[in-house]
Amino acid sequence: MEAHDTTVEQDEFFKTLAEKSDGGTLRGDYSKADAQYVVQQDMAAYTPEQHALWRRLYERQARLLPGRACDVFIESLAALDASQGVPDFERTSEALFKATGWRLVAVPGLVPDETFFEHLASRRFPVTVWLREPHEFDYIVEPDVFHDFFGHVPLLFNPIVADHLQQYGLGGLKALKLGGLKNLARLYWYTIEFGLIQSPQGLRVYGAGILSSGGEIEYCLTNPAPKRVAFNAERVMRTLYKIDSYQETYFVIRDFQQLFDETAPDFTPIYERLKDLETLPADTLLPGEADLGVA
Ligand code: PHE
Ligand code: FE
Repeated sequence: MEAHDTTVEQDEFFKTLAEKSDGGTLRGDYSKADAQYVVQQDMAAYTPEQHALWRRLYERQARLLPGRACDVFIESLAALDASQGVPDFERTSEALFKATGWRLVAVPGLVPDETFFEHLASRRFPVTVWLREPHEFDYIVEPDVFHDFFGHVPLLFNPIVADHLQQYGLGGLKALKLGGLKNLARLYWYTIEFGLIQSPQGLRVYGAGILSSGGEIEYCLTNPAPKRVAFNAERVMRTLYKIDSYQETYFVIRDFQQLFDETAPDFTPIYERLKDLETLPADTLLPGEADLGVA
């Protein structure tokens, strides 16, 4: 790649993460990662207990999908045939590449922002190799293979989402140069991780953070407490989010084309505008905005 010193960059990355996680470290094994943080997925290393835990996670979650997840998620997930154990990324990659030109790459866990964006911009989706522990069945802080694979991979089979995520990766590299990273991260959070979508039958979930969660998938659709607001890219980019509780606001897209179209314009002037604007708390309802209510 370029003239970057990988070791120095990695040190920086781990330092930032240690700060972010209150002195904690990432649990993945980064020692065998290449410069793009890619590792081999060692299928033989998963134990029978881990495959059994995957099956339990999958079963619990699959049961919750009908009437809650959007159709394309349910259909693509079924076609993945991943219910029986931690899936083989290579096998999925082949099907995915045929469908939308994307591949999965195995990573030890979180990767630096720039690396993440570079992967997406090249139509590669990084998937964490390790699986949570049994006591983390309901909640996990760092994304694991269940979140990354179950939550994110099905929608990569949708051509519009696939194109959108590549554009997001390119936009991320640009945001790094323009000081727009925080704004762009909020967009990702409120769409790809926690987004809701309209359907003829009512609200549905497409965000991976919800789709891989046993509790929030019901909460986000039926609990009266959180707000549900029509998606607007610039509004989302100035809105703070919760990382240690259910969301206080969900943003609702009409369809994936809207998500693609509203994020297609050049964000440079938006980043400039937002620098002078206050951020909005996670539970804000702006004048003129309607709470769309429960599904
Ligand atoms: N259009 C954005 C820009 O100019 C890039 C982007 C595309 C961001 C898709 C998010 C999603 O920076
Ligand atoms: Fe995620």
